[in-house]
Amino acid sequence: MSSLIGQPLDTLDTPQLLIDLDLVDINLKKLFTACKERQVACRVHFKSLKCAGLARYIAARGGDGFLCAKLCEAEVLADAGLTDLYIANQLVGPIKLKRLAALARRAQVRVCVDDPENIAQMGRAAQEAGANIGALVEVDVGMSRCGVAPGAAALVLARQIQKTPGLRFVGLQGYDGHLQMLPDAAERRAKCLEGMEKLVGTRRLIEEAGIPVEVVTGAGTGTWEFVSAVPGVTEIQPGSFVLMDCAYHSVRPEFGCSLSILATVISRRAGHYVLDAGSKAISKDFGMPVIKDHPQEKVHKLSEEHTRVEVEGEGIRIGDRREVIPAHCCATMNLHRACLGVRQGKVETVWPIEASGRYD
Ligand SMILES: Cc1ncc(COP(=O)(O)O)c(C=O)c1O
Repeated sequence: MSSLIGQPLDTLDTPQLLIDLDLVDINLKKLFTACKERQVACRVHFKSLKCAGLARYIAARGGDGFLCAKLCEAEVLADAGLTDLYIANQLVGPIKLKRLAALARRAQVRVCVDDPENIAQMGRAAQEAGANIGALVEVDVGMSRCGVAPGAAALVLARQIQKTPGLRFVGLQGYDGHLQMLPDAAERRAKCLEGMEKLVGTRRLIEEAGIPVEVVTGAGTGTWEFVSAVPGVTEIQPGSFVLMDCAYHSVRPEFGCSLSILATVISRRAGHYVLDAGSKAISKDFGMPVIKDHPQEKVHKLSEEHTRVEVEGEGIRIGDRREVIPAHCCATMNLHRACLGVRQGKVETVWPIEASGRYD
């Protein structure tokens, strides 16, 4: 695929996963500049990218390390020489903990915890490997996924981590995933600040007990602006803002949609045309994609290898090209093995997507 470098987009075979690097640059600059002004770190979520080349590109433009949902993602980053890593998830069982400890010997690794037995097992795995693992207590700020209740329950775990050889208490995680796509910005902000008050209150409780709290982290693309302004929060952890998608764009229009799938019209009839990419190339778990620069053309249905688009008039021809903007960038990256970094209509780089299709 490296032979594609320098090629204009209209000469490429389709479908192709494209990343517009000029738009990525704008998105990164917007968020990194805002975070610098607010003196919070911006740790980019790698689950949205899954691609080490793109992660290196972001690191070179000023990201403060990476967040991962899965251990395999952190291993991919470490293999790429990116070693400031935080797995914002629970890693459970001897196989995962052994891998985690091995990773912690070659990278600075932090991980979420919310269970005393898991903490004890993680400590033993770290000791056996001669590793040191940073642990953050996950606090449930309203999402009802992982995490302990704010307050005393988090203090109990912080104390346990502090006493566990092989582990180091780093701080608190509070992710407000239930709020990211709330369409009403005022409601999103109010609910987000309620959750952050509980998180920062937990920080105070732990500090009053004499345990230093280095990191308090949370937020996604939908709440970055509110969380990053909260005193006591040290870091935000958005991912989708880099690539974006049409679902997130409706609540966060300040970031451009840099990810698209280049496709070809392979069939047409009065009232609709059909593209040569479907749900195996364009995720539909967050809804229908849109056609870039052609808002009047509406995606009606995705089947495995076809997208049917409704259109008025006779203007479309077989062989015409369209760029499809997916409704979920993270899930779309997970469907492909490679992507093309493009600038001003030409391929600048080809990146493998190393962690795509991996869930370990
Ligand atoms: C723990 C955690 N942090 C942050 C995010 C934010 O990601 P995004 O900016 O893509 O919404 C997610 C999304 O799933 C997450 O699970």
